[in-house]
Amino acid sequence: MKNELTRIFIEQFQASPQVIVRSPGRVNIIGEHADYNNGFVLPAAIDKAAYIALSLRQDEEIHLTAIDLKENFSTTIHQLKPIGDISWPNYILGGAAQFVKKCIPLKGFNLLLTSDVPIGAGLSSSAAVECATVFAMNHLLQTEFSRIEMVSMAQKAEHEYAGVMCGIMDQFASMMGKASQVIKLDCRSLEYQYVPFKLDGIKILLLNTNVKHSLASSEYNTRREECEKAVELIKAHQPSVESLRDVTVEMLDQFVLPVNELVYKRSRFVVDEMERLNDACNYLEQNDIASMGECMFETHEGLSRQYEVSCKELDFLVNFVKDKPEVLGARMMGGGFGGCTINLVQENAIAQLVSEIKPAYEAAMNLPLDFYIASIENGTELIY
Ligand code: GLA
Repeated sequence: MKNELTRIFIEQFQASPQVIVRSPGRVNIIGEHADYNNGFVLPAAIDKAAYIALSLRQDEEIHLTAIDLKENFSTTIHQLKPIGDISWPNYILGGAAQFVKKCIPLKGFNLLLTSDVPIGAGLSSSAAVECATVFAMNHLLQTEFSRIEMVSMAQKAEHEYAGVMCGIMDQFASMMGKASQVIKLDCRSLEYQYVPFKLDGIKILLLNTNVKHSLASSEYNTRREECEKAVELIKAHQPSVESLRDVTVEMLDQFVLPVNELVYKRSRFVVDEMERLNDACNYLEQNDIASMGECMFETHEGLSRQYEVSCKELDFLVNFVKDKPEVLGARMMGGGFGGCTINLVQENAIAQLVSEIKPAYEAAMNLPLDFYIASIENGTELIY
Protein backbone atom coordinates (compact mmCIF):
# COMPACT_ATOMS: atom_id res chain seq x y z
CA MET A 1 0.00 0.00 0.00
CA LYS A 2 2.79 2.39 0.99
CA ASN A 3 4.71 1.98 -2.28
CA GLU A 4 1.61 2.16 -4.43
CA LEU A 5 0.37 5.31 -2.72
CA THR A 6 3.81 6.94 -2.96
CA ARG A 7 3.97 6.14 -6.66
CA ILE A 8 0.54 7.66 -7.38
CA PHE A 9 1.31 10.65 -5.16
CA ILE A 10 4.50 11.44 -7.10
CA GLU A 11 2.64 11.05 -10.37
CA GLN A 12 -0.09 13.42 -9.20
CA PHE A 13 1.87 16.02 -7.24
CA GLN A 14 5.46 15.62 -8.55
CA ALA A 15 6.88 15.07 -5.06
CA SER A 16 6.85 12.36 -2.40
CA PRO A 17 4.28 12.44 0.41
CA GLN A 18 5.60 13.54 3.79
CA VAL A 19 3.37 11.15 5.67
CA ILE A 20 1.05 8.18 5.06
CA VAL A 21 -1.58 7.20 7.62
CA ARG A 22 -3.89 4.21 7.89
CA SER A 23 -7.13 4.56 9.83
CA PRO A 24 -9.63 1.69 10.03
CA GLY A 25 -13.39 1.24 9.87
CA ARG A 26 -15.14 -0.29 12.86
CA VAL A 27 -17.63 -2.86 14.04
CA ASN A 28 -19.73 -2.55 17.16
CA ILE A 29 -20.63 -5.73 19.03
CA ILE A 30 -23.43 -4.17 21.05
CA GLY A 31 -24.52 -0.80 22.44
CA GLU A 32 -26.19 0.81 19.42
CA HIS A 33 -27.42 4.42 19.49
CA ALA A 34 -26.03 4.52 23.01
CA ASP A 35 -23.04 6.83 22.46
CA TYR A 36 -24.93 10.12 22.08
CA ASN A 37 -27.06 9.10 25.07
CA ASN A 38 -23.93 8.91 27.25
CA GLY A 39 -24.08 5.11 27.51
CA PHE A 40 -21.50 2.39 26.91
CA VAL A 41 -20.52 0.90 23.53
CA LEU A 42 -18.38 -2.09 22.55
CA PRO A 43 -16.70 -1.32 19.22
CA ALA A 44 -13.45 -2.47 17.60
CA ALA A 45 -11.31 -1.35 14.67
CA ILE A 46 -11.22 -3.75 11.71
CA ASP A 47 -8.97 -4.80 8.85
CA LYS A 48 -10.62 -2.44 6.39
CA ALA A 49 -9.15 1.04 6.40
CA ALA A 50 -8.76 4.45 4.78
CA TYR A 51 -5.23 5.48 3.75
CA ILE A 52 -4.14 9.08 3.38
CA ALA A 53 -0.91 10.36 1.88
CA LEU A 54 -0.25 13.99 2.65
CA SER A 55 2.27 16.75 2.12
CA LEU A 56 2.13 20.40 3.09
CA ARG A 57 2.46 23.12 0.45
CA GLN A 58 4.12 26.51 0.62
CA ASP A 59 1.05 28.30 -0.77
CA GLU A 60 -2.58 28.37 0.34
CA GLU A 61 -3.94 25.77 -2.07
CA ILE A 62 -5.59 22.49 -1.13
CA HIS A 63 -5.60 19.66 -3.68
CA LEU A 64 -7.42 16.44 -2.89
CA THR A 65 -7.66 13.24 -4.93
CA ALA A 66 -9.84 10.22 -4.14
CA ILE A 67 -8.11 7.45 -6.05
CA ASP A 68 -10.94 4.91 -5.96
CA LEU A 69 -13.61 7.39 -7.03
CA LYS A 70 -11.28 9.01 -9.60
CA GLU A 71 -12.33 12.42 -8.34
CA ASN A 72 -10.36 15.56 -7.59
CA PHE A 73 -11.27 18.56 -5.51
CA SER A 74 -9.42 21.83 -5.03
CA THR A 75 -9.92 24.84 -2.80
CA THR A 76 -7.80 27.12 -0.61
CA ILE A 77 -7.24 27.33 3.09
CA HIS A 78 -9.14 30.65 3.22
CA GLN A 79 -12.18 29.09 1.60
CA LEU A 80 -12.55 26.18 3.97
CA LYS A 81 -16.26 25.36 4.20
CA PRO A 82 -18.53 22.34 3.80
CA ILE A 83 -19.34 21.58 0.18
CA GLY A 84 -22.74 20.46 -0.99
CA ASP A 85 -22.61 18.02 -3.83
CA ILE A 86 -19.90 15.46 -3.06
CA SER A 87 -19.25 14.10 0.38
CA TRP A 88 -15.71 12.77 0.67
CA PRO A 89 -13.87 16.15 0.58
CA ASN A 90 -15.97 17.24 3.58
CA TYR A 91 -14.38 14.65 5.85
CA ILE A 92 -10.93 15.95 4.95
CA LEU A 93 -11.78 19.66 4.91
CA GLY A 94 -13.65 19.20 8.20
CA GLY A 95 -10.55 17.62 9.71
CA ALA A 96 -8.28 20.43 8.46
CA ALA A 97 -10.73 23.05 9.72
CA GLN A 98 -10.27 21.79 13.28
CA PHE A 99 -6.64 22.92 13.20
CA VAL A 100 -7.62 26.33 11.85
CA LYS A 101 -10.23 26.65 14.61
CA LYS A 102 -7.50 26.00 17.14
CA CYS A 103 -5.53 28.89 15.60
CA ILE A 104 -2.82 26.62 14.26
CA PRO A 105 -1.21 28.21 11.22
CA LEU A 106 -2.08 25.89 8.38
CA LYS A 107 -0.94 26.34 4.80
CA GLY A 108 -2.18 24.46 1.80
CA PHE A 109 -1.68 20.73 1.29
CA ASN A 110 -1.80 17.93 -1.25
CA LEU A 111 -3.67 14.82 -0.22
CA LEU A 112 -4.38 11.43 -1.74
CA LEU A 113 -7.11 9.17 -0.36
CA THR A 114 -7.84 5.51 -0.90
CA SER A 115 -10.02 3.23 1.20
CA ASP A 116 -11.33 -0.30 1.25
CA VAL A 117 -13.97 0.45 3.87
CA PRO A 118 -17.18 0.03 1.88
CA ILE A 119 -19.06 3.33 1.67
CA GLY A 120 -22.50 3.55 3.29
CA ALA A 121 -22.15 0.07 4.79
CA GLY A 122 -22.34 1.14 8.43
CA LEU A 123 -18.62 0.47 8.93
CA SER A 124 -17.73 4.14 9.47
CA SER A 125 -15.91 4.87 6.27
CA SER A 126 -16.26 8.59 7.00
CA ALA A 127 -14.81 8.37 10.53
CA ALA A 128 -11.84 6.49 9.05
CA VAL A 129 -11.10 9.38 6.68
CA GLU A 130 -11.62 12.02 9.37
CA CYS A 131 -9.29 10.24 11.80
CA ALA A 132 -6.65 9.65 9.13
CA THR A 133 -6.72 13.34 8.15
CA VAL A 134 -6.47 14.67 11.69
CA PHE A 135 -3.75 12.18 12.62
CA ALA A 136 -1.66 12.95 9.53
CA MET A 137 -1.92 16.70 10.06
CA ASN A 138 -1.15 16.45 13.75
CA HIS A 139 2.01 14.59 12.82
CA LEU A 140 3.13 16.99 10.11
CA LEU A 141 2.29 20.16 12.01
CA GLN A 142 3.84 18.74 15.20
CA THR A 143 0.82 19.91 17.16
CA GLU A 144 1.03 16.99 19.60
CA PHE A 145 -2.68 16.58 20.24
CA SER A 146 -3.42 13.42 22.19
CA ARG A 147 -5.35 10.62 20.54
CA ILE A 148 -8.41 11.51 22.64
CA GLU A 149 -8.22 15.14 21.49
CA MET A 150 -7.93 13.94 17.91
CA VAL A 151 -11.01 11.72 18.35
CA SER A 152 -12.98 14.78 19.34
CA MET A 153 -11.58 16.83 16.42
CA ALA A 154 -12.56 14.06 13.99
CA GLN A 155 -16.06 13.92 15.49
CA LYS A 156 -16.41 17.69 15.05
CA ALA A 157 -15.43 17.29 11.41
CA GLU A 158 -18.45 15.00 10.98
CA HIS A 159 -20.76 17.40 12.86
CA GLU A 160 -19.65 20.56 11.13
CA TYR A 161 -18.82 19.39 7.61
CA ALA A 162 -21.03 16.31 7.09
CA GLY A 163 -23.96 17.62 9.15
CA VAL A 164 -24.42 14.35 11.05
CA MET A 165 -24.62 14.89 14.81
CA CYS A 166 -22.90 11.57 15.48
CA GLY A 167 -21.74 10.33 18.86
CA ILE A 168 -18.14 9.57 19.70
CA MET A 169 -18.06 5.83 18.98
CA ASP A 170 -16.89 5.63 15.37
CA GLN A 171 -13.98 8.05 15.64
CA PHE A 172 -12.98 6.58 18.99
CA ALA A 173 -12.88 3.04 17.61
CA SER A 174 -10.95 4.06 14.52
CA MET A 175 -8.36 6.06 16.46
CA MET A 176 -8.05 3.88 19.60
CA GLY A 177 -8.58 0.33 18.31
CA LYS A 178 -6.24 -2.51 19.34
CA ALA A 179 -5.73 -5.84 17.60
CA SER A 180 -7.90 -8.68 18.97
CA GLN A 181 -9.58 -6.42 21.54
CA VAL A 182 -12.92 -4.68 21.73
CA ILE A 183 -13.18 -1.35 23.51
CA LYS A 184 -15.63 -1.00 26.36
CA LEU A 185 -16.13 2.73 26.18
CA ASP A 186 -18.07 4.87 28.63
CA CYS A 187 -19.28 7.65 26.35
CA ARG A 188 -20.00 9.93 29.31
CA SER A 189 -16.57 9.95 30.96
CA LEU A 190 -14.61 8.63 27.95
CA GLU A 191 -13.03 6.08 30.27
CA TYR A 192 -12.33 2.91 28.36
CA GLN A 193 -11.06 -0.57 28.79
CA TYR A 194 -9.77 -3.08 26.24
CA VAL A 195 -11.49 -6.46 26.45
CA PRO A 196 -9.92 -9.48 24.69
CA PHE A 197 -12.08 -10.73 21.84
CA LYS A 198 -10.56 -13.99 20.75
CA LEU A 199 -13.46 -16.32 20.29
CA ASP A 200 -12.41 -19.89 19.74
CA GLY A 201 -13.58 -21.05 16.31
CA ILE A 202 -15.93 -18.06 15.91
CA LYS A 203 -15.53 -15.25 13.39
CA ILE A 204 -17.20 -11.93 12.76
CA LEU A 205 -19.07 -12.17 9.46
CA LEU A 206 -20.38 -8.92 7.99
CA LEU A 207 -23.22 -9.17 5.49
CA ASN A 208 -23.65 -6.04 3.40
CA THR A 209 -27.22 -5.40 2.22
CA ASN A 210 -25.90 -2.94 -0.36
CA VAL A 211 -28.72 -0.64 0.66
CA LYS A 212 -27.11 2.77 0.90
CA HIS A 213 -28.39 4.40 4.03
CA SER A 214 -29.65 7.56 2.37
CA LEU A 215 -32.18 8.27 5.11
CA ALA A 216 -29.54 7.83 7.70
CA SER A 217 -28.40 11.38 8.39
CA SER A 218 -31.81 13.01 8.66
CA GLU A 219 -33.39 10.16 10.64
CA TYR A 220 -30.27 9.91 12.80
CA ASN A 221 -30.60 13.53 13.85
CA THR A 222 -34.33 12.99 14.49
CA ARG A 223 -33.64 10.02 16.78
CA ARG A 224 -31.17 12.12 18.69
CA GLU A 225 -33.80 14.83 19.17
CA GLU A 226 -36.37 12.25 20.32
CA CYS A 227 -33.95 11.04 22.97
CA GLU A 228 -33.32 14.62 24.08
CA LYS A 229 -37.08 15.14 24.30
CA ALA A 230 -37.39 12.19 26.69
CA VAL A 231 -34.65 13.64 28.88
CA GLU A 232 -36.39 17.02 28.88
CA LEU A 233 -39.71 15.46 29.96
CA ILE A 234 -38.04 13.64 32.84
CA LYS A 235 -35.82 16.55 33.84
CA ALA A 236 -38.90 18.65 34.57
CA HIS A 237 -39.53 16.25 37.47
CA GLN A 238 -36.02 15.02 38.21
CA PRO A 239 -33.62 17.93 37.64
CA SER A 240 -30.50 15.82 38.20
CA VAL A 241 -31.14 13.77 35.03
CA GLU A 242 -28.72 14.85 32.28
CA SER A 243 -29.09 12.09 29.68
CA LEU A 244 -30.76 8.72 29.12
CA ARG A 245 -27.81 7.23 30.99
CA ASP A 246 -29.39 8.56 34.21
CA VAL A 247 -32.85 7.29 33.36
CA THR A 248 -34.69 4.18 34.61
CA VAL A 249 -37.63 2.34 33.04
CA GLU A 250 -39.76 3.56 35.95
CA MET A 251 -39.00 7.19 35.08
CA LEU A 252 -39.93 6.54 31.46
CA ASP A 253 -43.19 4.89 32.50
CA GLN A 254 -44.05 7.73 34.80
CA PHE A 255 -42.98 10.83 32.91
CA VAL A 256 -42.70 9.97 29.21
CA LEU A 257 -45.28 7.28 28.39
CA PRO A 258 -48.34 9.38 29.36
CA VAL A 259 -47.09 12.35 27.29
CA ASN A 260 -45.54 10.99 24.11
CA GLU A 261 -45.71 7.36 23.02
CA LEU A 262 -43.24 7.68 20.16
CA VAL A 263 -40.63 9.31 22.37
CA TYR A 264 -41.30 6.58 24.93
CA LYS A 265 -40.67 3.86 22.37
CA ARG A 266 -37.37 5.41 21.27
CA SER A 267 -36.05 6.14 24.74
CA ARG A 268 -37.19 2.75 26.07
CA PHE A 269 -35.02 1.07 23.45
CA VAL A 270 -31.99 3.09 24.56
CA VAL A 271 -32.51 2.40 28.26
CA ASP A 272 -32.98 -1.33 27.56
CA GLU A 273 -29.93 -1.35 25.29
CA MET A 274 -27.76 0.09 28.06
CA GLU A 275 -28.87 -2.75 30.33
CA ARG A 276 -28.23 -5.28 27.54
CA LEU A 277 -24.71 -4.04 26.97
CA ASN A 278 -23.98 -4.58 30.62
CA ASP A 279 -25.28 -8.16 30.43
CA ALA A 280 -23.39 -8.79 27.19
CA CYS A 281 -20.10 -7.62 28.72
CA ASN A 282 -20.59 -9.96 31.66
CA TYR A 283 -21.28 -12.85 29.28
CA LEU A 284 -18.18 -11.99 27.27
CA GLU A 285 -16.05 -12.01 30.41
CA GLN A 286 -17.45 -15.45 31.28
CA ASN A 287 -16.83 -16.55 27.69
CA ASP A 288 -20.54 -17.33 27.34
CA ILE A 289 -20.77 -16.29 23.71
CA ALA A 290 -24.14 -17.96 23.15
CA SER A 291 -25.77 -15.69 25.74
CA MET A 292 -23.94 -12.65 24.42
CA GLY A 293 -25.25 -13.55 20.95
CA GLU A 294 -28.80 -13.70 22.31
CA CYS A 295 -28.36 -10.12 23.48
CA MET A 296 -27.37 -9.16 19.93
CA PHE A 297 -30.56 -10.68 18.52
CA GLU A 298 -32.57 -8.74 21.11
CA THR A 299 -30.78 -5.54 20.12
CA HIS A 300 -31.80 -6.12 16.52
CA GLU A 301 -35.40 -6.61 17.52
CA GLY A 302 -35.32 -3.32 19.43
CA LEU A 303 -33.61 -1.40 16.63
CA SER A 304 -36.17 -2.72 14.17
CA ARG A 305 -39.41 -2.40 16.18
CA GLN A 306 -38.81 0.30 18.79
CA TYR A 307 -36.09 2.52 17.40
CA GLU A 308 -37.23 1.88 13.81
CA VAL A 309 -33.87 2.30 12.13
CA SER A 310 -33.79 -1.06 10.33
CA CYS A 311 -35.10 -1.89 6.85
CA LYS A 312 -36.55 -4.98 5.21
CA GLU A 313 -33.18 -6.07 3.82
CA LEU A 314 -31.48 -5.97 7.25
CA ASP A 315 -34.44 -7.76 8.84
CA PHE A 316 -34.29 -10.44 6.14
CA LEU A 317 -30.64 -11.19 6.89
CA VAL A 318 -31.14 -11.37 10.65
CA ASN A 319 -34.28 -13.52 10.35
CA PHE A 320 -32.51 -15.89 7.99
CA VAL A 321 -29.77 -16.71 10.49
CA LYS A 322 -31.82 -16.50 13.68
CA ASP A 323 -32.53 -20.19 14.15
CA LYS A 324 -29.23 -21.48 12.86
CA PRO A 325 -27.17 -22.98 15.68
CA GLU A 326 -23.91 -22.05 13.95
CA VAL A 327 -24.85 -18.35 14.20
CA LEU A 328 -24.46 -17.26 17.81
CA GLY A 329 -25.62 -13.70 17.39
CA ALA A 330 -26.63 -11.25 14.65
CA ARG A 331 -28.01 -7.77 14.31
CA MET A 332 -27.97 -4.68 12.15
CA MET A 333 -25.05 -2.41 12.96
CA GLY A 334 -24.42 1.33 13.04
CA GLY A 335 -26.84 4.16 12.32
CA GLY A 336 -29.23 1.97 10.32
CA PHE A 337 -31.47 2.11 7.21
CA GLY A 338 -29.03 -0.12 5.32
CA GLY A 339 -25.43 -1.18 5.57
CA CYS A 340 -24.29 -4.40 7.21
CA THR A 341 -25.42 -6.95 9.72
CA ILE A 342 -22.79 -8.24 12.12
CA ASN A 343 -22.89 -12.02 12.71
CA LEU A 344 -20.91 -14.18 15.11
CA VAL A 345 -20.56 -17.44 13.19
CA GLN A 346 -18.73 -20.71 13.73
CA GLU A 347 -15.80 -20.51 11.38
CA ASN A 348 -16.27 -23.93 9.79
CA ALA A 349 -19.89 -23.10 8.90
CA ILE A 350 -19.29 -19.76 7.17
CA ALA A 351 -18.87 -21.07 3.62
CA GLN A 352 -22.08 -23.10 3.84
CA LEU A 353 -24.01 -20.20 5.37
CA VAL A 354 -22.89 -17.78 2.69
CA SER A 355 -23.79 -20.26 -0.05
CA GLU A 356 -27.35 -20.39 1.33
CA ILE A 357 -27.99 -16.79 2.32
CA LYS A 358 -26.50 -15.08 -0.73
CA PRO A 359 -28.83 -16.53 -3.38
CA ALA A 360 -31.81 -16.32 -1.02
CA TYR A 361 -31.18 -12.62 -0.32
CA GLU A 362 -30.46 -11.74 -3.92
CA ALA A 363 -33.64 -13.43 -5.13
CA ALA A 364 -35.84 -11.92 -2.43
CA MET A 365 -34.41 -8.38 -2.41
CA ASN A 366 -33.11 -8.01 -5.93
CA LEU A 367 -29.81 -6.64 -4.63
CA PRO A 368 -26.33 -8.19 -4.47
CA LEU A 369 -25.17 -9.45 -1.08
CA ASP A 370 -21.52 -8.86 -0.20
CA PHE A 371 -19.79 -10.47 2.74
CA TYR A 372 -16.55 -9.89 4.65
CA ILE A 373 -14.92 -11.78 7.47
CA ALA A 374 -13.67 -8.99 9.71
CA SER A 375 -10.64 -9.29 11.95
CA ILE A 376 -9.97 -6.86 14.79
CA GLU A 377 -6.90 -4.71 14.19
CA ASN A 378 -5.04 -1.68 15.51
CA GLY A 379 -6.46 1.81 15.23
CA THR A 380 -5.03 4.82 13.39
CA GLU A 381 -1.30 4.52 12.68
CA LEU A 382 1.50 6.05 10.73
CA ILE A 383 2.69 3.76 7.97
CA TYR A 384 5.21 6.16 6.50
C1 GLA B 1 -23.45 6.01 13.68
C2 GLA B 1 -22.85 7.16 14.49
C3 GLA B 1 -22.35 6.67 15.84
C4 GLA B 1 -23.42 5.87 16.58
C5 GLA B 1 -24.05 4.82 15.67
C6 GLA B 1 -25.22 4.14 16.30
O1 GLA B 1 -22.46 5.08 13.35
O2 GLA B 1 -21.80 7.77 13.78
O3 GLA B 1 -21.91 7.77 16.61
O4 GLA B 1 -24.39 6.71 17.13
O5 GLA B 1 -24.47 5.36 14.42
O6 GLA B 1 -24.83 3.42 17.42
